[in-house]
Parts: sequence; structure tokens; C-alpha cells
Amino acid sequence: MAAVCGGCGTFNIGKAKGRRPAPSDTLNLAIIGCGPMGDYNMRKFMDDPRVRITHVCDPIAESSFHGYDAKTPHGRDVFKRNVDKFYGTTATKSVADFREVLDDPSVDAVQITTGDHWHAIIGVEAMKAGKHVYCQKPMTLGISEGWAMISAAKDHGVTFQVGSQQRSAKEFRIAAEIIRNGLLGECRSCTIGLCYAHNDGVESGYNRDCTPSAIPDWLNPKTEMWNLYLGPALHWENDAYIPAIHAPVCWRWNSRTGNGSIADWGAHHFDILQWALGTELSGPVAIENVKTDIFDPSVTNRYLDQAKSYQFDIVYDNGFRAHVGDEGTIGRNGLKFHGERGDLFVARGKLELPESLKSWKESDLKGSDVHLYNNEHAKGCHEMDFTDAVYEGRQPACPVEIGHRSATICHLANIAARLGRTSVKWNPQTERFVGDEEANKRIFLKHHNGWTI
Ligand SMILES: NC(=O)c1ccc[n+]([C@@H]2O[C@H](COP(=O)([O-])OP(=O)(O)OC[C@H]3O[C@@H](n4cnc5c(N)ncnc54)[C@H](O)[C@@H]3O)[C@@H](O)[C@H]2O)c1
Repeated sequence: MAAVCGGCGTFNIGKAKGRRPAPSDTLNLAIIGCGPMGDYNMRKFMDDPRVRITHVCDPIAESSFHGYDAKTPHGRDVFKRNVDKFYGTTATKSVADFREVLDDPSVDAVQITTGDHWHAIIGVEAMKAGKHVYCQKPMTLGISEGWAMISAAKDHGVTFQVGSQQRSAKEFRIAAEIIRNGLLGECRSCTIGLCYAHNDGVESGYNRDCTPSAIPDWLNPKTEMWNLYLGPALHWENDAYIPAIHAPVCWRWNSRTGNGSIADWGAHHFDILQWALGTELSGPVAIENVKTDIFDPSVTNRYLDQAKSYQFDIVYDNGFRAHVGDEGTIGRNGLKFHGERGDLFVARGKLELPESLKSWKESDLKGSDVHLYNNEHAKGCHEMDFTDAVYEGRQPACPVEIGHRSATICHLANIAARLGRTSVKWNPQTERFVGDEEANKRIFLKHHNGWTI
């Protein structure tokens, strides 16, 4: 294999603090965040005989009140029952406070599947405690959090995987290899549709009740668990619980805890864009033509402050332009690259090549061509790729710097939209906006309630 990228260019693991189990040893993994994505990732880890789930952690013990699905209960006690049953034990530790997990030296690695407002603080603390980290995307809620996570990963020599699992899927790798190797001819633009179902909840049936209410019984003891649940996010007046933004899953629809559909799906597709362009350790130079119908300033709807529909362009220094919109506007969830030799469309489970490449096969790539990180060793399983990387003392498919840069693009678009800008200029080297001090202030995310990195 001549040139391997995607993982390359990232730091080498030097004086590793994180324990690397011997091949004969199990990797003890704690699950932090027991919601639907926590369950999905955990089950993939459970399929791997090298991994043992030792702890499950969530301030919610058990709740069937989810933002979009009131039938499936979640929470640490539900997870404990499932894990105990799987291993035929009663020994799985069910813990409310993640700090207890991080203090336990028997834990080698953590899976962070909380809402986005917690990723950076728990991630940095975990790395300081020498734990390897599998952290869901978007890696951060704000740009400055990414810098802290990169420093922690370097300082503590741990393996860090961002849950951008499209990087482990063959169709996305092949699409990126086609673009990188110029097989589409000159490729100057692309169109990206972001999943509509993850918009502000209007069409997707999410809970939209904005009535300020009492903290629900499923957070118990209330004050302590509410503080652990909201963590660094600013509380609302009178400590109100607003179902539409506080019920599990619904943190996405308020900017104190999430970044809406732009980040939810942008974190996935911008990651692939950067992979295909080879800009994964830098980024664009501008966000242009920003149009959104978001951020309704009316008092009644101030809680649901994310983009419902939006369009913007991500612009690179060589003139490449990605036109982005919600699926309702663009028509299709995925990335369509427009090249001299036709269009290439890629989405989950779909790779549509232009006529000019219909007879092309992956094996046509030459040794001297660009070959990207190939997750065949883990059969395309992103979680198993993380475990392989921990055992092998290396970084996996989507390391911390790449996760930071992909999340940054989501943040640039959101910052531009929230400030009402139609365009912003960005310097990917200094990681500052150019000529926009108000935007630069938004790079630094403020944490509240005594939580800091
Ligand atoms: N990779 C993907 O395709 C994909 C898909 C869906 C979600 N996600 C990501 O996974 C994460 C979780 O999403 P979800 O839909 O499962 O959200 P969710 O709100 O349903 O679940 C998050 C869980 O974290 C818990 N939590 C909150 N504070 C905590 C704390 N301090 N310690 C431990 N647990 C805490 C909540 O109580 C909740 O049970 C998000 O970052 C999301 O963006 C990724």
C-alpha cells in the first residue's frame, strides 16, 4: 500500500498512559450515556469477545420517557439488566456519576454516548485518568473544546475514536479514494443533503412540549441528578425542565446542549467531504451564502432555536465549493460530487458511480495511488476498529484531530447563522475567523455550573 491517509498525520502514541491489554487480556469498557446510541454501540462492543462491559453509567436509572420513543426504556439499570443477562452475571456496576467510573483503575476504556454538551468534559477527564475513549460525534459542542481534547489525547497517550462510523464503511472510503485519485476528473464542487428527520422536531414526531415543568421523577435524587444531567449547560429560569429540549434525545434542539441537524448529520457528511478532499487536518476558508429560517426570536419558541431548513456553501482555498442544505431543500441525504466525468453519489449503503466509471473496480487502484484507511481488518465495524487500535497502540479510523475538524465545520455554519451573517471567512491554520471579532468570541464555549475542562 503506497499512500495511506485518514489516521496518518495525526500524533503518534508515545509514552502511553492508557493501559493496553495484552492480546490474551480483556479490555474493560464502561458505557457512559445509556440512551439509544449507547445501546447500539455497546452491543457492537459486546459482540467482540476481547471486550468486557464492566460499568454502565447514567444519571437516569430508568426512564421510558424518551424524546421520540416512549416505548423503549433506557437508563443505567436497564443497561445493567441487559449486560448482566448477556454475560450471565450480576456483577455489572450501575453508576450514576461518571467520576466514579473514571476513578476505577479497572476500567481501561470508556464509551461516551451522552448528549453533545458532555462529550468534551467527560472525554478530557477520561483521558486524564488514562482511559481510551470511544466518543460519539459531533465530538464537540464548541470549537475550543476540540483543542482541549486534542491536547489531552496527546498528553495522555490514549487511543481516541470519534463515532463517525461512515469512515469505517466501504462505500464512503471508495468514494473518497475515487475523488482523491482524480478518477472523476477535475472535481470542483459537491452537494450535501443532511437528514431531515433530525430537524427541529416538527416533522419527525419528537416531543415539542415547551411548557416549563418540574424536574421529572426519573431524575432521582432530583437536584443531584438534574445537575449531572445538564452538567455544563446553562439552566433555564427557575430551574425549569422543558420537555422539548430536556427529554433524552431532545438536547439536540437547543443551542445550550446541541447544534441541531447541521451538527447531527453535518458531523458525518462533512467528515466524508474532508476525507475526500484531503483536508481532514485543516478545513475550509469560508462559509458563504448562508440562508436559514432558524432562531425564531419569539419568546414562545426561544427553546427550539435550531435550524429547521438551511442552506450554505463550504468553500476551500482551491475554490472547491460544497453546497449544503437540509434534505427537504436538497432532496437527498448524502454527498454528490460533481466531476468532469460525471456525478458520484454516496450515502449509507449506496454508491452510485457515473457512466464513465461503471466498469471501474476497486482493484484497478495502483500501488502508487492514494489508499485510505481501510477497516477491513475489523470487518467495517467502527467499534472493533477502536478495540484493534487500543491493542495495537495506535489511532483508529477517526482520531481526535479529525473529529475536531469535522465538528468545526458544523460550528462555523451555526455561528454564521446565529450571528445573521451571510458569509464568514475562516483561517484553518490559526483557527480564527478573519475580520470578525464577534464571531471569534463564539469559538470559546463557556461552561457553567462549576464544570470546566
Ligand atoms: N454515530 C451515529 O450515527 C449517531 C446516531 C445517533 C446519536 N449519535 C450521538 O450519540 C450521542 C447520544 O445520542 P442519543 O440519541 O442516544 O441521546 P440520548 O439523549 O437518548 O442519550 C444520552 C444519554 O446520556 C445520558 N446522560 C446525560 N448526562 C450524563 C452524564 N453526566 N453521565 C452519563 N450519562 C449521561 C442521558 O441521561 C441519556 O440517557 C449523541 O452525541 C449523538 O449525537 C450518534
